[in-house]
Amino acid sequence: MSTFKAPKGTYDLTPPDSAIYLAVREAIAAPLKRSGYGYIETPGFEQVELFSRGVGESTDIVSKEMYTLTTRGGDELALRPEGTASVLRAALEANLHKAGNLPVKLWYSGSYYRYERPQAGRYRHFSQVGAEAIGAEDPALDAELIILAVDAYKSLGLSDFRLLLNSLGDKECRPAYREALQGFLRGLDLDEDTRRRIEINPLRVLDDKREAVQKQLVGAPMLRDHLCEACKAYHEEVRALLTAAGVDFVDDEKLVRGLDYYTRTTFEFVHGGLGSQSAVGGGGRYDGLSEMIGGPALPSVGWALGVDRTVLALKAEGIELDLPAATQVYAVPLGEEARKTLFGLVTELRRAGVATDFAFGGKGLKNAMKSANRSGARFALVAGERDLAEGVVQLKDLESGEQTAVAFDAVVSELLARQG
Ligand code: HAM
Repeated sequence: MSTFKAPKGTYDLTPPDSAIYLAVREAIAAPLKRSGYGYIETPGFEQVELFSRGVGESTDIVSKEMYTLTTRGGDELALRPEGTASVLRAALEANLHKAGNLPVKLWYSGSYYRYERPQAGRYRHFSQVGAEAIGAEDPALDAELIILAVDAYKSLGLSDFRLLLNSLGDKECRPAYREALQGFLRGLDLDEDTRRRIEINPLRVLDDKREAVQKQLVGAPMLRDHLCEACKAYHEEVRALLTAAGVDFVDDEKLVRGLDYYTRTTFEFVHGGLGSQSAVGGGGRYDGLSEMIGGPALPSVGWALGVDRTVLALKAEGIELDLPAATQVYAVPLGEEARKTLFGLVTELRRAGVATDFAFGGKGLKNAMKSANRSGARFALVAGERDLAEGVVQLKDLESGEQTAVAFDAVVSELLARQG
């Protein structure tokens, strides 16, 4: 160990577990790639103001959890706590919305940073794969995204998850509801902090997990009863499309989410095996965000799924992904001449597409065979002086123990054939 450790709330991805993370990212991205979403990558940091305006000054994310810094040049930057504001900023900057093809559908994968209290499933550096569909108001688009997330989880073999669904209304109906809710909340017995929250972000109070608060919330006005006709019809259509696609959901009228940009459809995926940090993914519609960051009106919808928590969910369900062995063939030279010949063969195999590794460092036979077994390779290629003289290498099947001599120039084709 060195003098240093990974910073608090972070961890390193190292082999062999890192392969699971790669596979999870790939599995989440796969349904998006076949549904017209193009890949986007944005910087790891942005102007602080993008998030304070976009995600919202009153949210925990902006008020407590951002890693901010002032550059030598005096710019106020923040490590990105989430992806939506950045992706929309980038799409507007590149004028993607003007190319005449709305919605602009984008997917991304990367690291995000929140100064949260670390615990199981909650980290200060974590990883998301996300998708945003920008510039269309269409219930089918909301349904598409939700279906693609469900398909991603299912492709990984996950089953112990639920989809919570809600509508947060729009600028027509939410203001009146907000007032009605504030009126109700002001009459409750709440602590100072929560009282302040009533004035800034009353919907978040509904989300308060404390039992003493939840008890008092019985009978609170619910947004469902205050939705305008357009929001109601929109939500009903999203629900109908999900049902038609065989996607189960739970109507959760208390689902508020921790970011201020949401309008209408909001949803969260929760997993049964994760304890208190049960949200494996979430998203929703954000019809006003573009205008909030200085762009034109661009109704949009998206989600982000947490990679770290998806991996924890796999563990909780005891799912082992069927990952291809990183190494298929392991070459073991005996002696200096064999080293040169086998190293050449290794390069040839790799160029032919066979994942091959080599016993570096002049290991003896016993150690080298141990490494071959540890590598997960199905085959070992062993060659010594006598083999070289005969123009062959020994091809050993590490599963059956069977060994055959194969001529140098037949090794590549033989292994390609055996790979099937
Ligand atoms: P979010 O709900 O804040 O939404 O994050 C999405 C997912 O990221 C969570 O469900 C969780 O799995 C994971 N996540 C969040 N914070 C942490 C953490 N501290 N440690 C580990 N995992 C975490 C968003 O970020 C929105 N941008 C989603 C969205 C996209 N809405 C519209 N488009």
